[in-house]
Amino acid sequence: MENSVLKVKDLGIHFKGRRRFFRGNSEGVWALKALSFSLTTNSTLSIVGESGSGKTTLIRALLGLVVPTTGNVELWERSLAAITDEERLAARRRCGCVPQDPYSSLPPTLTVLGAVLEPWNIVRGGRKDEGIAKAKELLTELKLPENLWKMRVRYALSGGQRQRVAIARALVLDPELLLCDEPTAMQDVSTRGEVLEVLNRRVALGMSMVLVTHDLLLARCAAKRVLVLHRGEAVESGDSTELLKCPAHAYTRALLAALPRL
Ligand SMILES: Nc1ncnc2c1ncn2[C@@H]1O[C@H](COP(=O)(O)OP(=O)(O)OP(=O)(O)O)[C@@H](O)[C@H]1O
Ligand SMILES: [Mg+2]
Repeated sequence: MENSVLKVKDLGIHFKGRRRFFRGNSEGVWALKALSFSLTTNSTLSIVGESGSGKTTLIRALLGLVVPTTGNVELWERSLAAITDEERLAARRRCGCVPQDPYSSLPPTLTVLGAVLEPWNIVRGGRKDEGIAKAKELLTELKLPENLWKMRVRYALSGGQRQRVAIARALVLDPELLLCDEPTAMQDVSTRGEVLEVLNRRVALGMSMVLVTHDLLLARCAAKRVLVLHRGEAVESGDSTELLKCPAHAYTRALLAALPRL
């Protein structure tokens, strides 16, 4: 049976214009405007939009890291605005997040294995061996060579490898909902496919996923449903194959036309 995992209703996020940060624009900026969508178990929603369209802000709002200016976010049928701090933490622990920037989001002093294990140690402290086995399994699945596992994240890894460590870190607690912010932006074409396969396998096993990206083709490969975001507003949504075949909105057509062709 499909259960509701995420419901976003009329979500608006406005960043106030402080003189120090917004020289000449004291009105601030609406990063998201009247955005609504929902997600059930075992499914993925791809959200595609250009740089600055509000994708990262949306992921932060879904995690409760930005307070909505209008509307609300419901996780497992509970509004984030109406629950206690403990309940919010419990909901947060059912979510995994792959942040956009694997440079600033990974603890630089930890080893690769240590970085993947950190969430496990915080949440399930006691069962160390189980955690280590799980972390190694994920690193192998994500094709990170074993000779890197004991290296420090700061020194030894390329951007793409760091990103795969961030994905393993997000998956180590078997999240029910995974929020991915450009999870393959630093991968080459072949590893991109492998990473997507790892994520899709989890979805087939019951996980739900929101994947935000600027890449229309990745959005289509990841999900049956796509929502197109433009300047913080949803301009079009629907079946990903249909949407690519005959886009209704001029912005979607422009995105499609901008795809490189051989
Ligand atoms: N903390 C903040 N304070 C003020 N404005 C912000 C803040 N975070 C984001 N913004 C603004 O909100 C808008 C959306 O930013 P966001 O980072 O969500 O875009 P994005 O779609 O993730 O872009 P990219 O693809 O480049 O990562 C931008 O205009 C940005 O300037
Ligand atoms: Mg972003």
